[in-house]
Amino acid sequence: VNIQWFPGHMAKAIRQFEENITLVDVVFEILDARIPLTSMNPEVKRISGDKPHLYIMTKRDLADETRVREWLQYFASINQPAMAVDAKTKFGPNAVLDKVNPILKDKLAREEAKGMKSRPIRAISVGVPNVGKSTVLNRLVNRRAAQVGNRPGVTKGQQWLKSSDKLELLDTPGILWPKFDTQEVANKLALTGAIKENAFSSDDIALYAINRFRETMPEGLMNRYRLTKDDFELSDVDMLLKITQNVGMRDDYLRASDRIILDARAGKLGGFTLDSVADLEANDDTN
Ligand code: G4P
Repeated sequence: VNIQWFPGHMAKAIRQFEENITLVDVVFEILDARIPLTSMNPEVKRISGDKPHLYIMTKRDLADETRVREWLQYFASINQPAMAVDAKTKFGPNAVLDKVNPILKDKLAREEAKGMKSRPIRAISVGVPNVGKSTVLNRLVNRRAAQVGNRPGVTKGQQWLKSSDKLELLDTPGILWPKFDTQEVANKLALTGAIKENAFSSDDIALYAINRFRETMPEGLMNRYRLTKDDFELSDVDMLLKITQNVGMRDDYLRASDRIILDARAGKLGGFTLDSVADLEANDDTN
């Protein structure tokens, strides 16, 4: 779905999330491992308040493994629970429970001490469009057997879905907007597919991709588009024109741009992560 974020939509999304958050023990904020920082919505932390917050970075299979590990290390260093996964394959309830159990151990022990009977942990997912919220939910929940039924407090039309005896998820993930502060941020969102095609011009995004990848993934570009070492002396624009010719599109650089974007998103040029921990530290310095 292509979501246009107007102030009214933002207010409504926040309101819904604020209502839902009162129902859960823990918030799963889904991030794209290719843009962990850019796909974060700072409002989530604010609204979550004291509720524990687990970052689930999806698309690890499409990301730069070195950078993903740097992010995991960084989150560990600030005691922020986080995990990185290929949500489409190697992922399920146990991986999540391994992260969530230690966070909620004390709370559940306190409840038990008060004589409350043991109960499943309840969670909600939230994230910007296209980060993998539905994929995560589907992997955690066996839909056929999943409906726990309506419960008091749950907004009409919402359901708890059973992930395991120990974990239940709200069936409607929260959708929040991505940040949009700079052109760089917009480029990252567009290249990874978090914002839709009609919101940008594809040659700008392809040029951004070439600019980033010529340093980090030269082999990916060379192999996919039959570029030579000498072609790396070209400017970004000339490299785009060269690629356009090499893929047989003559001078139709817009079509070639679309091809480059799709190839990048599908991981055909290699795994990439456009946000680094150093970017975060640079941001912090300016505050
Ligand atoms: P959303 O609910 O947050 O909007 O995201 P959704 O789960 O629909 O996922 C968006 C796209 O990202 C989907 O691809 C999905 O398959 C893909 N995806 C999610 N997690 C991962 C992951 O860990 N690895 C990889 N490689 N892809 C992931 P799509 O092209 O829209 O659909 P499909 O062609 O996969 O069916």
